[in-house]
Amino acid sequence: MKLIIAVIKPFKLEEVREALSGVGVQGLMVSEVKGHGRQSGHTEIYRGAEYVVNFVPKIKLEIVAPAADVEKIVDAIVGAARTGKIGDGKIFVLDVEQAVRVRTGEIGEDAI
Ligand SMILES: Nc1ncnc2c1ncn2[C@@H]1O[C@H](COP(=O)(O)OP(=O)(O)O)[C@@H](O)[C@H]1O
Ligand SMILES: [Mg+2]
Repeated sequence: MKLIIAVIKPFKLEEVREALSGVGVQGLMVSEVKGHGRQSGHTEIYRGAEYVVNFVPKIKLEIVAPAADVEKIVDAIVGAARTGKIGDGKIFVLDVEQAVRVRTGEIGEDAI
């Protein structure tokens, strides 16, 4: 199993959610975060406003998925989240040791 962490522009959340549902993703976590990439200290547009501060609002998605599904999930996120402008975000893929569904005690891929 892998953990896919995707940082995207907030207005892209709905489009990305639909794309993820289209490739069979059933569970995910969403958080509001702030951050910066390479343009640290430079301006970025968010809701029509120019941010000159160091941290720009983003949405962080976390998805635990079978390793075999990672490529199509990453492709779906990239396809839906890209605007071609700076600040489009980033995706990280990490190994996951274990998953447990609390209600049933199922473990591993059965639990995701
Ligand atoms: N190396 C990193 N580690 C952790 N989070 C990052 C990293 N780079 C970018 N991010 C997160 O992704 C968001 C979008 O990054 P982005 O501006 O698109 O990256 P870049 O400027 O490097 O192309 C940032 O606001 C930050 O929350
Ligand atoms: Mg950037």
